Amino acid sequence: MCGIVGYIGPRDATPIILSGLKRLEYRGYDSAGLAVLQDRHIEIRRDAGKLARLNALVDEAPVSGHIGIGHTRWATHGEPNARNAHPHLGMTGEVVVVHNGIVENFQELRAELIAVCVIFKSETDTEVIVHLVERYLSSETSLAEATRKALLHLRGAHGVVVLSSHEPDKIVAARIGNAGGVVVGIGEGEMYVASDLPAILEHTRQVVFLESQDMAVVTRDRLQVQTMQGHPVAYQVQNVPWDPVSAEKGEYRHFMQKEIHEQVRSLTDTIAGRVDFEEGRILLPELNLSPELAKRMRKMFITACGTAAHAGMVGKVLIEQIARLPVEVQIASEFRYSDPIVDEDTVVLAISQSGETADTLAAMEEARGKGATLWSIVNAIGSQAMRIADGCIAMQTGPEIGVASTKAYTAPLVDLYMLAILLGELRGTIKEKDRQLLVSDLRRVPALASECLNREPEIEKVARSLLNTQHCLYLGRGINMPTAYEGALKLKELSYIHAEGYPAGEMKHGPIALIDEEMPVVVIAPRDPWYEKMFSQIEQARARGGTVIALATDGDELVQTSADQVIWLPETPWMLSPVTAVIPLQMLAYHIAALRGLDVDQPRNLAKSVTVE
Ligand code: AGP
Repeated sequence: MCGIVGYIGPRDATPIILSGLKRLEYRGYDSAGLAVLQDRHIEIRRDAGKLARLNALVDEAPVSGHIGIGHTRWATHGEPNARNAHPHLGMTGEVVVVHNGIVENFQELRAELIAVCVIFKSETDTEVIVHLVERYLSSETSLAEATRKALLHLRGAHGVVVLSSHEPDKIVAARIGNAGGVVVGIGEGEMYVASDLPAILEHTRQVVFLESQDMAVVTRDRLQVQTMQGHPVAYQVQNVPWDPVSAEKGEYRHFMQKEIHEQVRSLTDTIAGRVDFEEGRILLPELNLSPELAKRMRKMFITACGTAAHAGMVGKVLIEQIARLPVEVQIASEFRYSDPIVDEDTVVLAISQSGETADTLAAMEEARGKGATLWSIVNAIGSQAMRIADGCIAMQTGPEIGVASTKAYTAPLVDLYMLAILLGELRGTIKEKDRQLLVSDLRRVPALASECLNREPEIEKVARSLLNTQHCLYLGRGINMPTAYEGALKLKELSYIHAEGYPAGEMKHGPIALIDEEMPVVVIAPRDPWYEKMFSQIEQARARGGTVIALATDGDELVQTSADQVIWLPETPWMLSPVTAVIPLQMLAYHIAALRGLDVDQPRNLAKSVTVE
């Protein structure tokens, strides 16, 4: 996962950057680099591999100066090698950039830049940024203004830090969307910039977190913040307390809220290194999926518990649709005792954030005993579910502290989407053109998640309206039926409100009797293939006096006029809609619980890792 550190001040920037990057090492990365302004000349050291390699480079060819930026990269576009490692230098050698996020429209921008004779030296999407900044930079246009203008061209969510030998007393940093934060640390005659607090906490506790769409112009003793439209912003300096837990929570009240917001970054990292956007291909080498196995496979079981099982239900729709492989989802605590019909042509896929859930591990053992191929999707590196599988997709979410799972739900949704595409290709069930379209949709996922997060204030308003409710129904259909289950699970585990997720079509077979003025109904109705059916659910619930909170796609006037309240979703390709539909539901449950003053991160009776049967 990408990390950024920058320094400006009287001390040597190199060791400060190296030690800051070291503190971000736990996030995982595949290359690292730094750029330091030495005698008005930008010096870069970077390579694939770990920080030890960067340290060795710096030892071999020392570099020092009073201003510099560093980066750890988790490859998205272009393999992890020295050429693709950040920082990226422009053609004149006078501007250098580090970046977190995905430039969604980088191919268009790259083509436009090549047409005006820009020469690219890497395969990264990031490189377009430095060339754009350079093109705007002139004697009349400052680095800040050139960066601002350049960033307006980008689609997606980004954290960007720029420096130039033209203005050797300045670092420019921007946060667009939620692709990881940007924090500025204020010292005595010195300043720091970082993607994450731990990188700078050894130097200062006085920090300013940039809001989305804000840009910071940082000199040794001054910080100016402005919007991407160029309007000045009054910022607040926060004093981060000394205890490590508060420090780790950063700008958020609870770990859960932080983890909800980390989804843009975790989704970027989920895609990183696993997608060849040029060829429109998915790469999941850790799964050990041979073409022979893909063709021989006759059935897949997905087994998991709770939230992870809901991810599996979405996976079933995706894999059946794209790879035409029958998938059965079975709760792990049932699978182990159900004498499942499993043989050597069956793949059993376990999903678990902790990788230590007793029921899931027992289900895996059961499958192993019957000769199945065993795969897992796991967050905790080195956990049992990772070790005993024949192939594993490691979620790239980083540690999840909040007991209620959030980012470890959306990451496997994308993993399963990628798996479905790969299986579809190997089994010959998907046309090349369709595969390329599905792959290119992945590029939009982080920015779509970011758009959902930007709508948090509206979700909080809905949360206030539901504060005193006793019960709540969540309805969904098709690929978003599991979204209803997951929304209801989040609400009950966090707020202790009784909530049920239901397949919308089943309402008329019984649960409709529950609907009255006291029963809010959350209807998940994005524009997916089940939209019209969902719309009629709104009508049915309203006709019985129920209060309807609808999740609908931006601009859906029909839903707006029918529902009591609408939670708006950005237009999303339907196979990825469970990602954007669940984020507001996570925020809704979070805010209801926080407003009720409950222990959001450690709800009663729950454990992060359920290691008992
Ligand atoms: C999620 O919010 C829950 N706390 C719970 O359902 C969880 O998903 C389940 O216990 C499975 O855990 P695992 O992913 O660690 O296997």
